[in-house]
Amino acid sequence: MNRFATGLRASAAVLALSAGMVHAEDVEVLHWWTSGGEAAALNVLKGNLETQGIGWEDMPVAGGGGTEAMTVLRARVTAGNPPTAVQMLGFDIQDWAKEGALGNLDEVAAAEGWDAVVPEALQGFSKHDGHWIAAPVNVHSTNWVWINKAALDATGMAAPETWDQLVAVLDAMKANGITPLAHGGQAWQDATIFDAVVLSMGPDFYKASMIDLDPEALGGPQMVEAFDRMATLRSYVDDNFSGRDWNLASAMVINGEAGMQMMGDWAKGEFLNAGKVPGTDFVCIRFPGTQGMVTFNSDQFAMFDVASADAKAAQATMASAVMDPGFQSAFNVVKGSVPARTDVPNDAFDDCGKKGMADLAEANANGTLFGSMAHGHSVPASVKNAMYDVVTAHFNGQYDSQTAAQELVTAVEIAQ
Ligand code: BGC
Repeated sequence: MNRFATGLRASAAVLALSAGMVHAEDVEVLHWWTSGGEAAALNVLKGNLETQGIGWEDMPVAGGGGTEAMTVLRARVTAGNPPTAVQMLGFDIQDWAKEGALGNLDEVAAAEGWDAVVPEALQGFSKHDGHWIAAPVNVHSTNWVWINKAALDATGMAAPETWDQLVAVLDAMKANGITPLAHGGQAWQDATIFDAVVLSMGPDFYKASMIDLDPEALGGPQMVEAFDRMATLRSYVDDNFSGRDWNLASAMVINGEAGMQMMGDWAKGEFLNAGKVPGTDFVCIRFPGTQGMVTFNSDQFAMFDVASADAKAAQATMASAVMDPGFQSAFNVVKGSVPARTDVPNDAFDDCGKKGMADLAEANANGTLFGSMAHGHSVPASVKNAMYDVVTAHFNGQYDSQTAAQELVTAVEIAQ
């Protein structure tokens, strides 16, 4: 558009506004960002939209990993009343797109050149049939360990880099009288540890089992060993772990009651929200044996197909705000994740954030970047939920490792 045309469009907008023809529209946003750190990040987004005249109608549904949020969403859509925008993960976005329920963001995506700056691994989920259907706000990854620095120092050991070193540190923390591993017994949390444990058996094994769903990998000796590692980790969890929310497990590490938590980098948001400093109060490492590899998940705002032109305009404004490079920096610094675009500088990020960005780029270049099973980026929800059931049953002692591996093969086969 030339300058004259741009000017004409701008003055038309001013005229329309002053004549009261254009209404600032609210967006109703369904999400599961309800912990302290998550709420702090959400406020960055709300504040940004408010400055653009877009009101925020909050629809929070607690429950990490979004399982509960997705149940509520299904009910809303079935009732013919979808929210404007929904926080969504990977395969869920594609499932809704296949149902024809999502809107189209092609215009804003083309105007802002999203194709050139959003990594392909994310575009595979943000686009359907070549059309933009969601705006990615971040990239999280699940193969992290968050360690209380004082508790680590008290062991006299360095941060673990191998499985054996990890077990030695956990033993030493136990001997020092703290809970070595802070964990909440919820299926998605068990699965989050499982992501990292499977990856620690090697990138080829992660791909074969969690992405290609190869029955030989799902039921073979490496999977039995992965389940053995899960059982070992289970032995370092306190007696009250059942049902505990993930952010309460983070709090145990923050206050020194526990030594470490194996959790995605949203946990960093809790540490920061509590005023803790990376390197001083806590240490972030990749799950031992997974340095150079990343299991990622990306929160995206999927836009539902809404009728009114005002609502569509508000969706486009929200998508544009979410994709703004300055916003992606400000938001992800607080959230614990890293930007969903490749052109955002790392200056504002702390050492863990800088590491997250570097690890992501390295894994992407080396073919060791994989979608997280636990967070909906390796398989559709039906298969993911089948895996959750087996992982949790084993974690709770219902299956031995051999049986769990066999059950995994059967559950995945039935779910496909
Ligand atoms: C989301 C994160 C969120 C975490 C815990 C993950 O699935 O991607 O944004 O913080 O769940 O609620």
